[in-house]
Amino acid sequence: MRTQVVIIGAGPAGLLLSHLLAADGVESVVLETRSREYVLARIRAGILEHSSVELLTDVGLGERLARESMPHRGIYLHTPEQRTHLDFVDLVGHGIHVYGQTDLTRDLVDARVRGGQQLVYEVTGTALHDIDTARPYVTFVDADGAARRIDADVVVGCDGSFGPSRQAVPDPRTWERTYPYAWLGVLADVAPSTDELIYAWHPDGFAMHSMRSAAVSRLYLQVPPGTDIAEWSDDRIWTALAARLGHGRDGWTLTPGPITEKSVLPMRGFVAAPMRHGRLFLAGDAAHIVPPTGAKGLNLAIADVARLAPALGALLRGDGALAAAYSDTALARVWRCQHFSWWMTTMLHVTDDPFDAQLQLAQLRWVASSEAGARGLAENYTGLPLR
Ligand code: FAD
Ligand code: PHB
Repeated sequence: MRTQVVIIGAGPAGLLLSHLLAADGVESVVLETRSREYVLARIRAGILEHSSVELLTDVGLGERLARESMPHRGIYLHTPEQRTHLDFVDLVGHGIHVYGQTDLTRDLVDARVRGGQQLVYEVTGTALHDIDTARPYVTFVDADGAARRIDADVVVGCDGSFGPSRQAVPDPRTWERTYPYAWLGVLADVAPSTDELIYAWHPDGFAMHSMRSAAVSRLYLQVPPGTDIAEWSDDRIWTALAARLGHGRDGWTLTPGPITEKSVLPMRGFVAAPMRHGRLFLAGDAAHIVPPTGAKGLNLAIADVARLAPALGALLRGDGALAAAYSDTALARVWRCQHFSWWMTTMLHVTDDPFDAQLQLAQLRWVASSEAGARGLAENYTGLPLR
């Protein structure tokens, strides 16, 4: 089998890249280890930056997004002292959209299928070969157990943090930060108790109230790493959320409901460079991980492929300048987002050091009361321009 671009991984990065390449007349094949059902059911991120929404709309993926996403003007920052609404639209001229990664993935898979693009699910043994030549190829075993080989001009690793692509880059430089906390995330069949997201600092730990629709809430609690989910009954979760989010203060109430999904997410920052070696390019979580507090993981994956697609189109037409610049330009954004995610994370998650707590509260008071402080958060949260 032969194609122009082999994309490893059918997460948001791989699926969107395939869509953008097709719009530029470039053929690709997407390989995925999981089943289509698994890919479509995965619950992950929920916030799209303004520029991600613009890009998706520009490339014909905005129809359901416009109908079903929830545009938010800003967020609430909550502490036991005060709740402050930061209005991003007033501060920087645009807001954000709440749209589950699950919904975006469905839009992307539908678009790929409509476009007749090849998506091969349930592959195993994905291996990359000859990436430092102009004729790289990928081998794998398909769902029927047959050994297959695809020859290509370019291979793109969009295979997340555990895929094989990153390992194919010889001697990468890596940076890593393991945060000393984790998130317990729940999905609940109950109308959100808030119109916009609440990020809460509390002496017991961070909490967040997000949502997926008018009838489904998404909530998070800071917990110690390695927390056993069995220790957290639904009652215990709702009680902790109520305390940390300020139930009963100034007439605000948190309405509990049936929890349909719970999981514990570790929090890690990671960057691998370069994001290119020969004819292999990396995009999304394959090259970098951010802690979720800044809502950047999904948006960074989108930003990478927004930059990579035109670079590959030009490379395949004989102009390698954009492809040569890809790693450095992508990494500049990655580090800006890494910093913002670190800043949000360390401002909002409690440690056992009382000095840290006072610094965090001082910082939160500054963001809540200074237009310059609020604008800095707003500019980073809503996202830098993509191009
Ligand atoms: P992924 O979505 O990870 O996609 C990679 C794909 O590659 C997967 O489908 C995988 O099955 C496939 N793959 C792996 N190995 C192979 C192989 N050998 N061959 C073929 N295919 C392969 N971000 C936020 O902003 N907020 C959140 O609340 C949030 N929650 C998260 C919860 C979890 C459990 C995880 C893991 C991530 C979360 N993120 C969150 C991060 C966000 O979801 C990611 O940044 C985003 O999914 C990145 O997209 P991607 O396409 O780069 O990688
Ligand atoms: C989510 O809705 O899942 C979500 C929202 C904001 C974040 C992280 C996750 O910062």
